[in-house]
Amino acid sequence: MARYKLGLLAGAAALMASISAVSARAETVSMFCSATDYELCEKGAAKWSKTSGHEVKINRMPQNLDDAIPIYQQLFAANSADVDVLYIDVIWLGMFKDHLADLAPLVPEDEVKAHFASATDAARLEDKLVAMPFYIDTGLMFYRKDLLEKYGKQPPKTWDELTATAKEVQDAERAAGSPDIWGYVWQGRSYEGLTCDALEWIASSGGGTIISNDGEVSINNPKAVEALTRARDWIGTISPQGVLNYDEEASRAIFESGNAVFHRNWPYVWGTSQAEGAGLVGKVGVMALPVGAAGEGSSGSLGTAYLGVSKYSKKQDIAADLLRYMVGLEDQKMRAIEGGYNPTVAALYEDKDVLAKIPFLEMAKAAFEESVARPSAVTGKNYNRVSRTFYRAVHEIISGADDVAGTVEQMARRIERDVKASD
Ligand code: GLC
Repeated sequence: MARYKLGLLAGAAALMASISAVSARAETVSMFCSATDYELCEKGAAKWSKTSGHEVKINRMPQNLDDAIPIYQQLFAANSADVDVLYIDVIWLGMFKDHLADLAPLVPEDEVKAHFASATDAARLEDKLVAMPFYIDTGLMFYRKDLLEKYGKQPPKTWDELTATAKEVQDAERAAGSPDIWGYVWQGRSYEGLTCDALEWIASSGGGTIISNDGEVSINNPKAVEALTRARDWIGTISPQGVLNYDEEASRAIFESGNAVFHRNWPYVWGTSQAEGAGLVGKVGVMALPVGAAGEGSSGSLGTAYLGVSKYSKKQDIAADLLRYMVGLEDQKMRAIEGGYNPTVAALYEDKDVLAKIPFLEMAKAAFEESVARPSAVTGKNYNRVSRTFYRAVHEIISGADDVAGTVEQMARRIERDVKASD
């Protein structure tokens, strides 16, 4: 009896040893981190590395996410196993779905359910869960609370009110000895960010979302023309000429140096502008974007970020383990507290530590619920082509086109062709 027991124990010990030998073999997994949140991404990966014993090799994505598309395309075309975990912009889900592993068997259902259903549902394509949500991005309006108070102004509710308040405060501040201040800075460069800004002006003015959910190209309408004309007229009056070349970071730099009254950007600007030692601590207010006319819903563009596992990864299990940590509650909480990133894990919207750092989280959640999606689901692989046609035409308009209606009409005809492209 005693010998039998001993034998059993020895067998169990041998089994345990062999299990831990397998899991202890340190592997290296490789992931992409976006340039904007690189340090936080690196910190999360390092934490996982410490507990898992595996290494993470991090690749920094280009500053402008558009520039990552050809890099991904090359990796996928080569069936490359070089990168295991990928950062996926919401508009890429349809474009890259065929190259992403199905996460349904790799991520336990209760972990999936911890996220806002709308965010995970958007990543369920053709019976696969192609990615998991990492953080929510919705267009928000940041403003100089101190300056609005100084001039007795309320945060504006419509774009026309914003235009008037921006002009008044800008002119008064210039007269008071701040010659470099502008009323409003945003993203006017010819790139995906301009698609987001312009979609917001148009959708919040009742001009639709470029292409309707059932696939009809709807951009050629008077409300869209009016919204684009209003934006064109901002240049040189409340927005500097330089806006035509600003992306998120360039426009943020102007705002955070104290040279703008209003600033449209994503939630991370709360983190940067309120970081210890930053120049605008305590002086910034955040609100949902204005609307075109009373009665329209606020329409921040939806920019949720996701993580996915490459279908060509040779280490999908370990990659999924890293992904689960990075999108999980602990890491999202760290990112919210240290960087102002808005979580996709619903429970964090009731977390005291997070609420203490992001006091407008409830408002951001409402803005997220009202947000508008770019037409990437309905265009799938052609989204990038459609968006490029759109932002190039918008850029032409805001650069001073006289015939806004004609430019929109021509843009609509091109988009009709883009949606039918088959390569
Ligand atoms: C942000 C958004 C993303 C959008 C990009 C445009 O990164 O999260 O969805 O495409 O800005 O510049």
